[in-house]
Parts: sequence; structure tokens; C-alpha cells
Amino acid sequence: MRQQTTTALLLLAVLAAFSYPAAIAQSPPDGVVLGTELTASEFFSAVNLVECGDLTDSNSGYYFESGGATGLNRERCDIGGTCQCRRFSECSDGDCLRVWPCTVEGGGTNKNCKAIANCTQNIFDTPMRVEVACDRQNMTDKNDADLDLFGEKWKQALADDCGIGRVCRYNGDTHETIQVLAYDAFVTYTLNDAHVDDIQACATSTLFRFNRCTTSVRSCIGRNILGDFDMDTFRTCIYRRHHHEGMAETLFDNCDCANITESSTFAEIQDVYSCMEFCAASTANLNCDYVVTTTTTTTTTTTTTTLECPDIDSPEAQVVYEFVTFSIAAPEGNEVRCVGYADGGLATYENVTTSMEDFWTVPLFDGSTGGDYFSIADNSTGSAQILVTDSLLGTYTHVCSARPAGTEQLCPLVATNPTSSSIGP
Ligand SMILES: *[C@@H]1O[C@H](CO)[C@@H](O)[C@H](O)[C@H]1NC(C)=O
Ligand SMILES: *[C@@H]1O[C@H](CO)[C@@H](O)[C@H](O)[C@H]1NC(C)=O
Ligand SMILES: *[C@@H]1O[C@H](CO)[C@@H](O)[C@H](O)[C@H]1NC(C)=O
Ligand SMILES: *[C@@H]1O[C@H](CO)[C@@H](O)[C@H](O)[C@H]1NC(C)=O
Ligand SMILES: *[C@@H]1O[C@H](CO)[C@@H](O)[C@H](O)[C@H]1NC(C)=O
Repeated sequence: MRQQTTTALLLLAVLAAFSYPAAIAQSPPDGVVLGTELTASEFFSAVNLVECGDLTDSNSGYYFESGGATGLNRERCDIGGTCQCRRFSECSDGDCLRVWPCTVEGGGTNKNCKAIANCTQNIFDTPMRVEVACDRQNMTDKNDADLDLFGEKWKQALADDCGIGRVCRYNGDTHETIQVLAYDAFVTYTLNDAHVDDIQACATSTLFRFNRCTTSVRSCIGRNILGDFDMDTFRTCIYRRHHHEGMAETLFDNCDCANITESSTFAEIQDVYSCMEFCAASTANLNCDYVVTTTTTTTTTTTTTTLECPDIDSPEAQVVYEFVTFSIAAPEGNEVRCVGYADGGLATYENVTTSMEDFWTVPLFDGSTGGDYFSIADNSTGSAQILVTDSLLGTYTHVCSARPAGTEQLCPLVATNPTSSSIGP
């Protein structure tokens, strides 16, 4: 039945195409006055677009109608920062758009009559650093024309290798949005951080290749860093992982690896990275030695790696009646925990808010009235969640932390805001 209807409609369309003069629209819209139908080339020379067109409702412009045997294709523009624009091309394979110049009766705007202007491109404001390992080429050697070609391949790879549908969310189409930082690194821009993450995931999980280059996209070291690679940023990035405290921090600060400069070769840079990584690992004194066993078909190897402690912002503590609540947020897959120690509590628990060991090993206890301490925990939900004590009495100093669920990681303690609460009798 459905098929019959479709066939009937098709027949009707074919009949219509043959039985009306070409200049008559099949369904001329109310209030829109059409001129003579334009061929694709007439349309192109009339609008003379540089690339893509920005279409807005207007009182004079162009009217499009689908179902032509020849005419135009109209697709979303794929140039970075032009998602709202359309690219026109010649169409001759049926299902084409026919086009007429139009004006609107009475002069108001009409959504069927579009003014067309050259598309205005947005340069996004989230920079990302893209590091490339290329075969026999040097980013710093490329002139504008080379970079244009390079950009074209970069965008093509985003679609082909990473399966990104709206590549218009990424800049880097031409030299204008590619800023070369070093012979193996450039900066370009995207809509927001989530889109950096998408390419980062792609670069680590699939073969993301273009122009004889393989790629990695850096967020921690590179994101928002337009200058050259700098050691302080690398250190900050490492410190945020909480593996260095006190003496270890000093030792790590004093690691003597070569400096990376504009003229460093790829091999030299790799050496510097290895040196820094080695140094970071060999000076670390916190949360090290989490043992992961990997099994391969022939051998079992034991490698020592470190599980990351999540970063958490200072949790908010609040007294609600005789309870203390903590608002804490950690990525899913972690355990969140808050521990408090009572003024004048038993000495056994005196270090629960200062020693990571005591904090993470003291038995869970909700602190019910007059407890020497409390230790409350939950599995993280990935967004802000509330931990609540039982009724308390007295003054408690508290801290919170989070660690990968199911591990014995001793993750660092984070001061709450405020750091203590008093609950009267
Ligand atoms: C687009 O820009 C070109 C070159 O600047 C110009 O000649 C043309 O008229 C513009 N087209 C429209 C529709 O504004
Ligand atoms: C790296 O640069 C810093 C500051 O420019 C300098 O103090 C240090 O000696 C350099 N290190 C090496 C190994 O060249
Ligand atoms: C890249 O090219 C620049 C400019 O020609 C040159 O100074 C630099 O040494 C080259 N770097 C590499 C790694 O070939
Ligand atoms: C608490 O820490 C201090 C200083 O490290 C130590 O002297 C004391 O014995 C610890 N108390 C307990 C109960 O472990
Ligand atoms: C976290 O979830 C696991 C599995 O559902 C559960 O056994 C465990 O008790 C939870 N941990 C906390 C602190 O609620």
C-alpha cells in the first residue's frame, strides 16, 4: 500500500516536471513573488560566494524548491566555525534544489525568501595543542599554501578516521587557523573542551593519520598553552596528580633534563619527555606502587603503574540541624569519603584528619551523638553529591577525599569549607 502511494507520488512528480514550463514552481509560496528560474551557474554568478553562504529570512533573495532533476545541492558547511552556513554545489543526479529569485509582497520578511551573504566564520576560543609525528616534514618549514593543504587533510581525517560528523566544530581548515608552535606541534581551535576530548579519545584509540603524520592531542600539557612547551607547565601537570610531597617535590624540581627549544628534533624531544617521566616516577613518594598484572598469550608480566587520584574541589560543609552535610563531586568510579575528628576525642583517632593512612583505614562510622570521630563514604555519582553524618554533638574538624573505588589508594586529603563545624547541645 505504502509502496503504491510512493509510486503514485513519483509518477505525479515526473508528470509535473514535464507538464509545467520550467520557470513555474510546483508550489509557489503565498506572498512570495518569483522571478525566472535560475540554472546552477546563473545562481553561482549571481551570489558569487567565496565559500559558503549564510541564509537569512528576507524580503528579497532566493526561493528554493526540492525535487528538481537538475539544480543545486545545499549542504551544511564543513569549514570550522560555519556550522550555521550552507555550501552550494551543482546537482544533476535528481533530487536537486531548483532556485528562483524572489521578493516578498508588501515587503515583510518571509522564511521562503532567503537573502544570501558570504558566510562569516567564527574562530572558536578553545585552543588545543596538536602534536604530530610526521614523516620527512617539518611544520615550521610550511608556507601558507602548504598549511592550507595540511589543514585540508587534518579536517578530512577528523571525518574519516575519527568519525566526527560536524567537522564545522573544528578550526584548522587553512593556515589562518593553524598556528605552528614547533616543527611538530600546532594550535588550532574548537567549540569547547568536550570537542578536544573527542579528538583526544580518537587519537588514542584509533589510527588517526593524515599527511603522513600520526597525532596526539594534548589537553593537560597543551590545552590553553599557546607558547612553546614549558617545563613549569609539565611540572604543574605532574603535581596535580599528587605523587610528590615535601622532599620529593624538591627532588623533582631539580631533575636536570635538557630544555626543549624550537630547533629540538623529534628524537630529542622524546628524550626530554622520557627523562622527565623517568624523573617524575623515580622521585614520586605518594600513591606509588599500585601493582597491575597484565597477561599476554605467552608471558605474564608485572608492571608497576600508578592509579590516579581524582582531583576534587574543596567540599562544602554545612550544619543542618544536628547533622553535618558535605557536598562533594568526584568522577564516577571513585569512592568519596569525609572524616571528622571531635575536639577532645579519643587519642586513638587524633590523626584521622591529618594522616592519609588513618583517614583511609579508620572504620566507617556515622558519628552518632558524641562520637570521637565520624567517617562517612559513598560511591561517587559523577556529579555533586551529599554525604551526611548522624546527629553529632560538639566541634568536629573535617576533611574529605576520593579514590578509585575498590582500591587501597591513599589519596590526599582535601580541606572542607569551612574546615570545622560546631553543633550545640
Ligand atoms: C562574497 O564575497 C565576494 C568577494 O569579496 C564578493 O565579490 C561577493 O559579492 C560576495 N557575495 C555576497 C553574496 O555577498
Ligand atoms: C634550561 O633552561 C633554564 C632556564 O632557561 C636553565 O637555567 C637551565 O640550565 C637549562 N637546562 C639545561 C639542561 O640546559
Ligand atoms: C625545521 O625547520 C626549521 C626551519 O627551516 C629549522 O630551523 C629546524 O631545525 C627544523 N627542525 C627539524 C626538526 O627538522
Ligand atoms: C599521630 O601523629 C603523631 C605525629 O606523627 C604521632 O606522634 C602520634 O603517635 C600519632 N597518633 C596515633 C594515634 O597514631
Ligand atoms: C560501592 O558500591 C559497591 C557495589 O555496589 C558496594 O559494595 C559498596 O559498599 C559501595 N561503597 C560505598 C562506600 O558505598
